[in-house]
Amino acid sequence: NGGANDTKNLRVKLVLLGDSGVGKSCIVLRFVRGQFDPTSKVTVGASFLCQTIALQDSTTVKFEIWDTAGQERYAALAPLYYRGAAVAVVVYDITSPESFAKAQYWVKELQKHGSPDIVMALVGNKADLHEKREVSVQDGIDYAEKNGMFFIETSAKTADNINQLFEEIAKRLP
Ligand code: GTP
Ligand code: MG
Repeated sequence: NGGANDTKNLRVKLVLLGDSGVGKSCIVLRFVRGQFDPTSKVTVGASFLCQTIALQDSTTVKFEIWDTAGQERYAALAPLYYRGAAVAVVVYDITSPESFAKAQYWVKELQKHGSPDIVMALVGNKADLHEKREVSVQDGIDYAEKNGMFFIETSAKTADNINQLFEEIAKRLP
């Protein structure tokens, strides 16, 4: 890094992957608009949104976000969105072990076919539903660590850790 007056404007292609219903679209809506939709509709194909954040060192990061559809019928489209992505955010629902297994499937897929220097984050969403938790924090931490990923639990409903997720990703960009 140079002097205090240096500014950098980065543009980052980010893709969200994960089972249908884990809250990918709600995470994006919370991050981009500060809102939560309890009646969020399933995503068809994919949707595209942008959000820019400023880091402390006067760097700005513009996230170009591809929010993919988690339903099985759209699985074959995923490579169109993760190809060339600098960041992949793989989301599961902490109340759903099936969604945690699906997240692991996406991580393997990214390791095989994603860009070799891709930054990957593992996100356990719906952390507000702690009384229904079925995936432990430690299981998330362990899997992420083994696979060189950043790990965080979030709640799109309460906004807990949503901004932190994107800030931590920004810090890990090459
Ligand atoms: P697909 O588009 O089909 O892949 O699903 P998705 O992963 O985009 O799920 P979506 O964001 O549409 O959310 C699915 C449901 O989970 C909705 O009813 C949301 O209101 C709910 N939801 C999402 N995030 C949270 C959360 O953090 N906490 C709770 N309690 N519910 C959530
Ligand atoms: Mg969606």
